[in-house]
Amino acid sequence: IVVFSGSAHTGLAEKICADLGVPLSPVEIHRFSNDCLQVQLQVNCRQRDVYIVQPLVPPTQEHLMELLLMIDAARGASAQQITAVMPHYAYARSDKKDASRISIGGRLVADLLVAAGVDRVLTMALHAPQVHGFFSVPVDHLTAIGVLADHFRGKDLADTVVVSPDLGNAKTATQFARLLGLPVAAGSKQRLADDRVVIDAIVGDVAGRRAIILDDEIATGGSIIELLDRLKERGCVQAAVACTHGLFAGRAVERLRSHPSVTEVISTDTVPRPPGFPELQVSSVSTL
Ligand code: R5P
Repeated sequence: IVVFSGSAHTGLAEKICADLGVPLSPVEIHRFSNDCLQVQLQVNCRQRDVYIVQPLVPPTQEHLMELLLMIDAARGASAQQITAVMPHYAYARSDKKDASRISIGGRLVADLLVAAGVDRVLTMALHAPQVHGFFSVPVDHLTAIGVLADHFRGKDLADTVVVSPDLGNAKTATQFARLLGLPVAAGSKQRLADDRVVIDAIVGDVAGRRAIILDDEIATGGSIIELLDRLKERGCVQAAVACTHGLFAGRAVERLRSHPSVTEVISTDTVPRPPGFPELQVSSVSTL
C-alpha cells in the first residue's frame, strides 16, 4: 500500500503509518500565483492500493480541494484502489433540506469525492449516520466510543451517568454507557443558530450524580455549556466531557475551562489538537 497525507493532519497520518509499519509517502502541494493548487504525488501509484489521509478540518474548503486533487492525481497515475481516510467529515451536519433553497453540503461533497475517483471512504462518528448513504462507493463508518470508554475504564464511576446533549446522539451514548456499565440520559436540544442551542428537557435520572457527557463533536462548545447549565439546575454538578471530534472553535476552550462543573475534557485525534488547550486529554484513533 501507499499512504499519502494532505496538509490537514499530518500528525495522524504519521501515527497511522508508524502503527502499520509503512512509510508516509511525500506529496508536493504547490500554490500558484493565482491561488490555484496543484499536487504531485512523489511515489509511483501504478496498480497500488492508495490511502489518502485528510480529515476535513479548518480551513475546510482548502483541505477539501487538496483531497480532491490528490484523488485525481492518484487516479491519473493508475492507482488500483483509492481510499480517502477522512476521520472527520465536516459537511455531515448539512444533510437535509431543512429550509427553502438551501444547499446540502454532505451530499455534494460525497458526489465530488466520487467524481474525483475515490473508490472507498473511511470515516468516523458522522454527525448523522444517514450521511453514509450519500456515497455511491463503499464507506467504512467507524466509531471511537471504544477508545473513549477505555479512558474511563478503571476510574471511580460510582453514581455516574452518561449524558447525550441531544436525542440524535442518544443511541451512541447508550452504546458507550453499556461499555462502562452505566445508565444513560439525554437532553432535548434545539439549535437556534450556529452558536446557540437550547436544551429544554433532560430524559433520565441525573440528580445527585456525576456525568460523563458524550457528543460526536464540540465546535463552539455551545451544546456542552447549555447541557452543563441544565444539569447543574438538576443537581448534577460535576461532569467529564468527551467527544470524538474536538474542533473547539471560537471561544470553546475558554467556555469549557471556566465552567465550574467540568472536571476534565477528552477528545480523539480525528482532528489536530487545538492550540492553547494543554489540559485536553487526547486518545488516538490511529489503530482503529
Ligand atoms: C450536533 O448538533 C452535534 O452532535 C454537536 O452537538 C454539535 O456539532 C456541537 O456543536 P457546538 O459545540 O457548536 O454546540
